[in-house]
Amino acid sequence: MPKKKIAVLTGAGVSAESGLATFRGSGGLWGEYDPQEVASIEGWYRNRELVLGFYNQLRAQLSKSKPNAAHLAIAGLEKDYEVTVITQNVDNLHERAGSTRVIHLHGEATKVRPEDGVYDRTYSEKEVIDVGYEPVCLGDLAPNGSQLRPHIVFFGEAVPNIEKAIDVVADADIMLIVGTSLNVYPAAGLYRYAKNNTPVYLIDPEDVAIYDPKITHIREVATKGMDEFIRRIKE
Ligand code: APR
Repeated sequence: MPKKKIAVLTGAGVSAESGLATFRGSGGLWGEYDPQEVASIEGWYRNRELVLGFYNQLRAQLSKSKPNAAHLAIAGLEKDYEVTVITQNVDNLHERAGSTRVIHLHGEATKVRPEDGVYDRTYSEKEVIDVGYEPVCLGDLAPNGSQLRPHIVFFGEAVPNIEKAIDVVADADIMLIVGTSLNVYPAAGLYRYAKNNTPVYLIDPEDVAIYDPKITHIREVATKGMDEFIRRIKE
């Protein structure tokens, strides 16, 4: 009997209990930094050093954090289901929790690539360099001689993996959304590609930017909500 397929869309809230700040909640990163300055393509062209410093700081924080029970529960679903995690997060906590199929929509904080200014070019595995938690500074150059830049999808850039993510959602038997305010497209619209008879669950302690009667909202933090979600799909 083939395993049922679960598509899991996650956002910053799933890593909140690992001590990583979210973006828009109280204490969120966008309360401290202007995303247009540190996470947009214009911000990069205006001040590369500021952007490199922001992601160096994120990597340093990531080096001190570890997967929480929600990451582990999502990875644990793979025992009984075919799970694909589609994450907006740039941390590596899903992989470190043991999830084996992770699609990063907004890039990965531990990776850098050449800033050769070619709009929307895809980058081969060998061009994308995993620097782990090491800082990367102005003057650190890629093999092709251009400045190394964060392997992040900045605001103002296309989302190369969105087609892959749409196919995963369209093919899923169950969809789970955990810890995202559903403010940012195209990620926020992904659930609309689920088949009509595919139940969509949302785990978030707060209201989110989208209300849709099709979505079953489990109003809990991720670690507790995962228990409730698993109970419901096992019913
Ligand atoms: N468990 C579950 N959800 C939580 C928890 C928790 N412990 N703590 C906070 N949340 C929820 C908040 O209620 C909020 O709905 O997580 C969500 C976080 O929302 P945002 O801060 O907007 O983060 P996210 O939705 O991931 O942002 C999407 O925006 O800035 C860009 O690229 C960035 O990927 C990011 C994208």
